[in-house]
Formats: sequence, C-alpha cells, structure tokens
Amino acid sequence: MKIIKKPSNIKKIIDNEKAEGKTIGFIPTMGNLHRGHISLVEKSIRECDYTIVSIFINPLQFSENEDFANYPVTTKEDIEKLSDAGVDLLFLPNTNTMSKYPFKEVKASSLTNALCGVSRPGHFKGVTTIVSKLFDITNPDYAFFGEKDYQQLLIIREMTKDLNLPIKIISGEIIREEIGLAMSSRNSYLSYKQRINASLIFKYMKQAKSRIEEGGEKIDSIYQLKKKLMFIPNADVDYVQFFDEKNLKKITKATEYGRIFIAVYIGKTRLIDNIRVRLK
Ligand code: PAF
Repeated sequence: MKIIKKPSNIKKIIDNEKAEGKTIGFIPTMGNLHRGHISLVEKSIRECDYTIVSIFINPLQFSENEDFANYPVTTKEDIEKLSDAGVDLLFLPNTNTMSKYPFKEVKASSLTNALCGVSRPGHFKGVTTIVSKLFDITNPDYAFFGEKDYQQLLIIREMTKDLNLPIKIISGEIIREEIGLAMSSRNSYLSYKQRINASLIFKYMKQAKSRIEEGGEKIDSIYQLKKKLMFIPNADVDYVQFFDEKNLKKITKATEYGRIFIAVYIGKTRLIDNIRVRLK
C-alpha cells in the first residue's frame, strides 16, 4: 500500500492508473477505523480496480465545544488494517498540506435544515467543503459512505449532483457491534456501563420499527421511543425524528420507506443512529 501525504503526488498516480483504464474507488475517513469503515473498503475493492482511503480529521466540521482536540488517533493500527484489507493507496495529509491546497468553501444543501444540521450548525458545510476537496485530489469514479451518517450520505449525493461531479456515491449499510450499537469511532469514549446502556438505543429503535410496520400509530410509536430513550441512565436525547428517507421531509402517503433518526448523548458522548421502516 502506498502512503502519500502530498495532494500533488496523488494526482500523478491517479492519472497513471486512469490512463490504464482502471476505475478508482475512494473512502474518505477520519481514521480510528472500525469494521464499518472496512466494510466500505471491501466494497470498493470488490467493485473498483484501485482503492484509495484518506485519513484526515477535518477541523472544519467540528465546532468549538466539540471533540476535535480529543478525537481518537490510531494511525499505526489504521495503516495495518488498510494494508491487510488490500487498499492500494492511503492519502494521509496533515492540516498544513490540506490548507495550502486552494480552498473553496462548498455550501451544504437544504437537507441540512434538519437533524444534525440543526444540532451542529456549520458541521455539514465543513463536511462538504473537505469532501469536495478530497474528491478533487483523488478524482474517483466511485465514493463510499456509510448509512450510519445517513444525512451526510444524502448531502454528499446532492453536492455531487450540484457540482456535476462524475462520481457515483455508493452507500454501505450500518455495521453493528454484537450488542447492537452502531459502529462509530466515538464508541471508544464509552465506559463498559455506558456501552450497555447505549445498546438499548437500537433495541428500542427496532421495537418502534416493528410497531409501525405492523400498522401501529406512527406519532405515538415515535413518542414512545423518545420516552424510552429518555429513561436510559445518563442519556440526554438530542432528537428523535421519523422522516421520508428520500428527502428527510415529513412522511406522506407517497412515502415508501421512512427512517427513524436519533441522536442521544450517553454521558458526554453523542451517538447517532437510524433504522429503515417499510411503509408500503
Ligand atoms: O464521515 C466522516 O468520517 C467524515 O465526515 C468525512 C466524510 C471523512 C469528512 O471529513
């Protein structure tokens, strides 16, 4: 696996690979890699001829009171995992190199007016700005994003369309720990007891999903879910919402699949999760 730090060096390599007719798959990450990331890497390796992963903890997507300074860094282990998985190139820039590269702010779409866009103002603009820059550097044919960050996935899809980028955005399903907790780098902040409490989130979401799919009242099912989440020890519920999965708007008669979205603090750790609900 090649490890490259400078954007200009990547461009040359990719141009050569593309000249040989190879398709490029790209997975942007902030490191501290877990099975969720690796499942995206495996998907890219299956579907593309050349797979690039980036590790960059993007300062633009954290606000002042968030965990940028403490975000877990496990570069040595990450390199091992990526190399074992068969990644061709790791882009590992530092903040300096990234800010030297011409910087164009990219506005996030109207999809930011809900969920994490409300709780974390500016977050998605930080994501779209850095992802568009990473797309420019790596010039992929396919880019892979996990469904745990479902809103991010839709926003990136929309951005790609907006900017007319010839990149296909592929999603990967949520990978869960055995106790049901959605895989996230932030799970490493949780104590043993907090992990057990956090595992209730998925249990309760599954109950709400079944209730709605069996014809139960939607508003009441979501209300009951919210109440159960509020009673998890040390939990502080940021939001619980049920939206059309296509546009993050209210469920209508035309909605085929809704999704329940939650953000819950367990202690100081903010966890997000979502689950698909069939309505037709
Ligand atoms: O999902 C993430 O880890 C980040 O938001 C991303 C896409 C790597 C952009 O910094």
